[in-house]
Amino acid sequence: MALSWDWRKSVLLVQAHSTGIFDALDDEFKQVGDVANLLGSDPRATYLLLVGLAGLGVVEKVGEKFRNGPTAVKYLVSSSPHYRGDLLRHDQRAMENWRKIPDVLISGKPIAKPEVNQEEKIAWQEVFAKAMEAVSEPKVDHLFNILEPKDGQKFLDIGCGPGTYMFEFADRLPGFSAVLFDRPETSGLLEKRIRSRGMEDRMTCLGGDLLDHEFTGSFDGVLISQILHIFPSDICADLARRASEVVKTGGFLAIQEMVLGPDENPGPTGLFGVQMMLGTAAGTVYTPSEVARFMTDAQLVIEKIESTDEKSKVFIGRKRVTA
Ligand SMILES: C[S@@+](CC[C@H](N)C(=O)[O-])C[C@H]1O[C@@H](n2cnc3c(N)ncnc32)[C@H](O)[C@@H]1O
Repeated sequence: MALSWDWRKSVLLVQAHSTGIFDALDDEFKQVGDVANLLGSDPRATYLLLVGLAGLGVVEKVGEKFRNGPTAVKYLVSSSPHYRGDLLRHDQRAMENWRKIPDVLISGKPIAKPEVNQEEKIAWQEVFAKAMEAVSEPKVDHLFNILEPKDGQKFLDIGCGPGTYMFEFADRLPGFSAVLFDRPETSGLLEKRIRSRGMEDRMTCLGGDLLDHEFTGSFDGVLISQILHIFPSDICADLARRASEVVKTGGFLAIQEMVLGPDENPGPTGLFGVQMMLGTAAGTVYTPSEVARFMTDAQLVIEKIESTDEKSKVFIGRKRVTA
């Protein structure tokens, strides 16, 4: 029954972050009263929250004083270059949805997104994109080694989010170029990133709907990373087909996806299926053979399947010379 208790840890972390307590603490030991003054909070509640965070191991306690532990200093303080606040904000929103599992179980319909204006929509899309970066960044080296991009090559990243992989590849290979495709709301963030890296001559951002966009051009590599779970299988098959059409002969389509398994046991990706039940109309979690099938149906030859973390695998389908 430990599982029934353990949700408190995640909720505590996410909600504590939203109060600004990690910024208030910093890496100096502080009295509870000083932290409460900075936050405008109740001293007793502040003390108990800090004790809870110390119990969790993210805050350190000496006598009556507290400071951020190394993980909090690195990821939870907003001035840190490694700050992961957007991931926590994304999780905070997801937590609201997870409370509604019984409703969705009956209705079968995803939880409606909050009504927002265009400006809020763009702001939220940026939070989401940066949250995705927290997940993709640790995998950059691994994906670089698996995809083996070469200097002078051109890739297309469909549903690129923050564009983490393509920016990193371009950083390492001065002649590498890429087209970054995502929803139009992500374009502002991507264009800012292209300009700040001085990559205007090598990186192009393209806004559109991947459900019906007819991709044009000819690419050495096309990446579809963490996209398929949002959609039902007919859409995934159609997307793989349209993506494969712009792969050069000899080039590849790479699909990175969280997959079920390794066997009949759904494994850690099973939990992600619930996220899809709550957040999408027809999304799901696929088995490795289902993902491989999208590629072979698109006339690609599966060349490699490798794990990129405990949930995800990357599938590489090569476009062979036709006789
Ligand atoms: C889970 S994120 C994956 C981001 C990135 N590929 C990665 O692996 O980190 C899904 C991305 O797909 C984009 N996306 C979802 N539906 C889309 C659509 N219909 N058209 C264009 N982009 C879409 C989202 O905006 C988001 O950036």
